Amino acid sequence: MEKRSDFLVIGSGIAGLSFALKAAQNGTVSIITKRAIRESATFYAQGGIASVISKEDTFDSHIKDTLYAGAGLCREDIVALVVKDGPARIHELIELGVKFSSRVNGHERELDLGREGGHSKRRIVHAEDLTGKAVEEALVASVETNPNIKVFENHIAIDLLSHAKFVGPTDEEGIWGAYALDKTTGEVNTFLAKATLLATGGAGKVYLYTSNPDIATGDGIAMAYRAGADIANMEFIQFHPTCLYHSKAKSFLISEALRGEGGVLRLKDNDPFMKRHHPMADLAPRDIVARAIDFELKKSGDDCVYLDMTSKPAGFLRDRFPNIHTKCLEFGIDMTKEPIPVVPAAHYTCGGVVTGADGLSTLKRLYVAGESACTGLHGANRLASNSLLESLVIAERASRHAGEVVKATKDAVPSIPAWEPGGAVVSDEAVVITQNWDEIRRFMWNYVGIVRSDKRLERAERRINLLKDEINDYYWDFKITNNLIELRNISTVAELIIKSARLRKESRGLHYNIDYPEKDDANFLKDTVLRLPHPTKA
Ligand code: FAD
Ligand code: SIN
Repeated sequence: MEKRSDFLVIGSGIAGLSFALKAAQNGTVSIITKRAIRESATFYAQGGIASVISKEDTFDSHIKDTLYAGAGLCREDIVALVVKDGPARIHELIELGVKFSSRVNGHERELDLGREGGHSKRRIVHAEDLTGKAVEEALVASVETNPNIKVFENHIAIDLLSHAKFVGPTDEEGIWGAYALDKTTGEVNTFLAKATLLATGGAGKVYLYTSNPDIATGDGIAMAYRAGADIANMEFIQFHPTCLYHSKAKSFLISEALRGEGGVLRLKDNDPFMKRHHPMADLAPRDIVARAIDFELKKSGDDCVYLDMTSKPAGFLRDRFPNIHTKCLEFGIDMTKEPIPVVPAAHYTCGGVVTGADGLSTLKRLYVAGESACTGLHGANRLASNSLLESLVIAERASRHAGEVVKATKDAVPSIPAWEPGGAVVSDEAVVITQNWDEIRRFMWNYVGIVRSDKRLERAERRINLLKDEINDYYWDFKITNNLIELRNISTVAELIIKSARLRKESRGLHYNIDYPEKDDANFLKDTVLRLPHPTKA
């Protein structure tokens, strides 16, 4: 079935929903999202949103911290505009009804600001330790009552509608929407739009251990790559230092905000080891903390390290971190009395689809915001809590830019052929999907993880090349399903990460290769950009 709207939004996290609310002022909006509307990394965000709110803080300080974490690869103009736009975006969320945590200061109430690794000031606006849930709920409530927005849940986008591929070579870089599988009917619908926003989030599920929810399969990055967009800096995968270590906890995150409130990482024998690794000790940037834990675990042979909060009053911990406190208790750990066992896990995709300051990709009418994008804010390593901030700022700018494009496009949307299932039949060997998925996630963890080497990367490249061909054959032979779409995207994203990591023969930010342990500014002070030729009509 064909569905037309002015704007198509793919994804219903912070980037997609905040864009949709603004875009709806200029036209009709369809949001497609592959599960229920709330299911997103946004919903699970804990720590908060970094922004200069305190009188003791300055834009310059936030900019400096972001640039330091980014290890030479941030785009300074983007850093400055995102940081400076932060307070306005926070106030919009408050007007939308988000109840951020506050505290009394003298006679006034003010926002309670948390601290996280790499930040030299308290600047994390939060709603206890459930910031993402508070933000997502407010955005969903507003979207659901907006008459210009229609939400299609359980619709997974398969591929972008590239003009060059489906219409002809006249507008070779343009995008007109996407094909999406309605998972409840099995039908593939054609969503046509004058402007499309990709807001599909990150790709943590490429790795065996991740803090990310199951939706994080890098679909948007893979779709944009297939459509000929520039993709940059995929080697910079951020590993969060502290996920709960417990056989039954599916990578539950233990927020960095705990270290911001005085938490200390210790080895089994109580040694506060971070002091040996960085002058900022437990509040060093994430890449340094994750690598230090990896180093200590390899040295000791232990399974985990421990985050010790026991120096803080029990009442404070229960009030400030109610979600984490309750979750730990469910696993038999009382964080008020004993240290929490933790390990690093894949957390954030710093690279993605290249965009400018208004979220426009290198393809016409294709905008990208949130974790799928590479705007230049994060460089080689994202500063904690800068992601929700970036999503808000870029989505707002993209909505204004796309609004102008929609006005100028009038009725020019061409007709695009309906999805062609070809001779595909229903697969009776779904085990191929689970086997390939597990294999990719395991070798990505072992060979393309926190510490890399040329030999490990070569091994990973050989394996992904074999699997890619097998997955591609399978993709065209069998009827399309959610799992098959995700597997194809996971394999593409794994390939992009490996290729980018192979190209960067130095160590910088989140990319650490033992064969080149130093930064090499003379040769690598630049982005790693990958692109396919634009598709052409068969
Ligand atoms: P998401 O919120 O992930 O939303 C992606 C959406 O796209 C989902 O609705 C998904 O279903 C949909 N989707 C994906 N593929 C398709 C497809 N093919 N078709 C249709 N729909 C699709 N950052 C901070 O700044 N502060 C924090 O405190 C913080 N805490 C975090 C805690 C956790 C546990 C995690 C996992 C991340 C955290 N982050 C934090 C990172 C931050 O939450 C994410 O980077 C951010 O929420 C990404 O927003 P997004 O809108 O780009 O994507
Ligand atoms: C956290 O709460 O530690 C996550 C913050 C982030 O990823 O920015």
